Amino acid sequence: MALKHQMVVFLLHMALLSVVFETGNAAGLKVGFYQKTCPKAESIVRQTVGGYFAKDPTVSAPLLRLHFHDCFVRGCDGSVLLNSTADNVAEKDAAPNMSLDGFFVIDAAKAALEQACPGVVSCADIVALAARDAVSLSQGPSWQVKTGRRDGRVSSAAEAVANLPSSFAEISTLKAQFAGKGLSTKDLAVLSGAHTIGNSHCNSFSNRLYNYTGKGDVDPLLNPKRIPELRAQCKPGDATTVVEMDPGSATTFDTHYYQQVAAGNGLFHSDAALLRDPLTKKYVYQHVGATASFFRDFGVSMVKMGMTGVLTGTHGEIRKNCALVN
Ligand code: HEM
Ligand SMILES: *[C@@H]1O[C@H](CO)[C@@H](O)[C@H](O)[C@H]1NC(C)=O
Ligand SMILES: *[C@@H]1O[C@H](CO)[C@@H](O)[C@H](O)[C@H]1NC(C)=O
Ligand SMILES: *[C@@H]1O[C@H](CO)[C@@H](O)[C@H](O)[C@H]1NC(C)=O
Repeated sequence: MALKHQMVVFLLHMALLSVVFETGNAAGLKVGFYQKTCPKAESIVRQTVGGYFAKDPTVSAPLLRLHFHDCFVRGCDGSVLLNSTADNVAEKDAAPNMSLDGFFVIDAAKAALEQACPGVVSCADIVALAARDAVSLSQGPSWQVKTGRRDGRVSSAAEAVANLPSSFAEISTLKAQFAGKGLSTKDLAVLSGAHTIGNSHCNSFSNRLYNYTGKGDVDPLLNPKRIPELRAQCKPGDATTVVEMDPGSATTFDTHYYQQVAAGNGLFHSDAALLRDPLTKKYVYQHVGATASFFRDFGVSMVKMGMTGVLTGTHGEIRKNCALVN
């Protein structure tokens, strides 16, 4: 009995510790952190993202994804931006290749910020701001970004592989991975809606079209009507072709993702898996066309995701070049 009690206390303690660890020093973040030290910080990021978006609106999706990948590995500390070095393979070079993009936009914003206020604005904050601007430029919602993150000095490919959800994952794994970052099952349903913009490489889902379990079969969670079209786009083994995740409106941030998932057309197994939990299933069905509610929820969940494991105060550093530790 006493042993059991001790065990429970121990487990509770571990749970608390992990929550404290994952939320890091989120209390050190606030809206308008740079108001005095770099008043134009947010407008400089917005102008930079806007300039690239005007030339090519597909730039939004990679910028949104960068913030997700940053936050899920070692917290939102800009570690996703670091280059590999002679003795370290960084997150961005994790195998399997994560096809991340948008680094040039972050670098351009950083260069402009270093001109305006050298050594003040972190790369991690630029990523958080750029994600918000990318979504709102794509006709999606906007939200107030809490800033004050500092940049980490460590980036590890192995940690990226261990922490990032796989597109082949089942709902139980997805829920557990989000919970591990302090994000709820609702956050999972809401943030998955990010797949309303952007592209995917065939190899992130083509196992669903051919030989799913080794018996020449297809993924039973994929609408059979969608299969011929996807097979025409993605031949077996194709790892270079990209397809739009929300065909026809891949640069518009809207509720089509939920329409697609509800119809069994979610591109990834992990998208389709949202129909296998009562809460996420309900969220999907309720948000087919429910723009206002999805937009409100998305901002709330992004702010929450943006607080994951952050470094604030005197922790970490303000990098001069986002690809390199100082
Ligand atoms: C729920 C678990 C998730 C899984 C398993 C997942 C997986 C993936 C995969 C496999 C791709 C395509 C990569 C490629 O083949 O090129 C992708 C793209 C993308 N993901 Fe996710 N993702 C998840 C959650 C999220 C979240 C939370 C966000 C942002 C809030 C996000 C934003 C994006 C965006 C915007 C793209 C398109 C990127 C582009 O066009 O370059 N994803 N995701
Ligand atoms: C980081 O790596 C990329 C891709 O290899 C390269 O183009 C870039 O110049 C590197 N940045 C720095 C600062 O070394
Ligand atoms: C892997 O990364 C390289 C270099 O960044 C890129 O050229 C290539 O298209 C990527 N491959 C895949 C499958 O994403
Ligand atoms: C399907 O997978 C099984 C098991 O891996 C393999 O033996 C078989 O050759 C595959 N069939 C095709 C058509 O690729």
